Amino acid sequence: MASIAEKSAQATALLAWFAQHQRQLPWRNRPSPYAVLVSELMLQQTRVETVIDYFTRWMARWPTVDALAQASESDVLALWTGLGYYNRARNLHAAAKAVIAQHDGVMPRDAESLRQLPGLGPYTVGAVRSIAFGEPAALVDGNVARVLARWTAFAGDPNAPRGRTQVWQLAEAWLDVPEPRADPSSWNQALMELGATVCTPRSPRCATCPVATHCQANALGLQALIPPVRQKAAAQLVRAAYAVIVGEVDLQSGVADADPCVVLGRRPADVRWAGLWEPPGVEGLDCLDVLNARLRGMGLEPGSPLGPIVHILTHRRYEVLIVPVRCPVDQLPSLAAFGYAETRIQTRSQALGKESGLSRLAQKLVETVV
Ligand code: ADE
Repeated sequence: MASIAEKSAQATALLAWFAQHQRQLPWRNRPSPYAVLVSELMLQQTRVETVIDYFTRWMARWPTVDALAQASESDVLALWTGLGYYNRARNLHAAAKAVIAQHDGVMPRDAESLRQLPGLGPYTVGAVRSIAFGEPAALVDGNVARVLARWTAFAGDPNAPRGRTQVWQLAEAWLDVPEPRADPSSWNQALMELGATVCTPRSPRCATCPVATHCQANALGLQALIPPVRQKAAAQLVRAAYAVIVGEVDLQSGVADADPCVVLGRRPADVRWAGLWEPPGVEGLDCLDVLNARLRGMGLEPGSPLGPIVHILTHRRYEVLIVPVRCPVDQLPSLAAFGYAETRIQTRSQALGKESGLSRLAQKLVETVV
């Protein structure tokens, strides 16, 4: 066991490294508690480089909790277009409303109140408390788990339930050391930054690591084995068929419209991708037959299917057939027969625009329109 003095020296080395090498990110410039919450929810499951643009647009549009609480859900989902895991956006919106309704519009700083807000788990609570309020609250995400596991040559799996509890205890113990305790915001972000840029899952850059000389995995040459590589659960296969219904200005001439119209339906509440827009689709083994029958029932003639295209989510693998359908632009149909509550007609470029509210899969389908 390292003494407190040794731990202080190690912590000082990491904090000095962070002060010098941290990336300049828009949420690091004296963020409000609300900005910390927005950035931390966006950063879950998503790379920093991707988040920067979304965060910047979000804060320009809704700079305060109050502004977000007053936004419509469709605007919130539209700005989130392409970021994935859309429940994060719904939760953020609901959390803003709860802060207004239950905390007079002021973000709470105690763990209990934060935990009650929609979408905030132990990691996010620790991030808001430490980064926004400077409270000595620990946090563990995948990066922190890996850093702490290597540092101590942790014997278990820090990503399994038992190991995760132990790693949380390690993270909490660090906050009893004077230097991390004096600046929990920098400390927690330093651990995450080290994991993201130096102590990476594969080929860690130990030669540039500020704590390499204290790292037990490094001393034992075990970096590649800690944390142990996890077996991925097999993804569930989902077969689907989608109709890309394109409006033709003049079916006879065959002259292609430079920016043709497509028909989109809005997914209902309480399903995956709730509230997002997509071309009409059907899932299941008989999806193509069902889709074609529905199209014919609407007086449309399905073309020969293309694909499948493959779309991978964390636990699902979509194999999607694309059925092209042409229809005079003034006769484009409503999608009520598919169960969509709303139908909208947009040009290809509008549908592929940044804030159009299409799921990533829907965007891929629209991209096939030429
Ligand atoms: N990952 C998630 N939040 C982060 C932060 N504040 N700094 C570095 N990496 C992060």
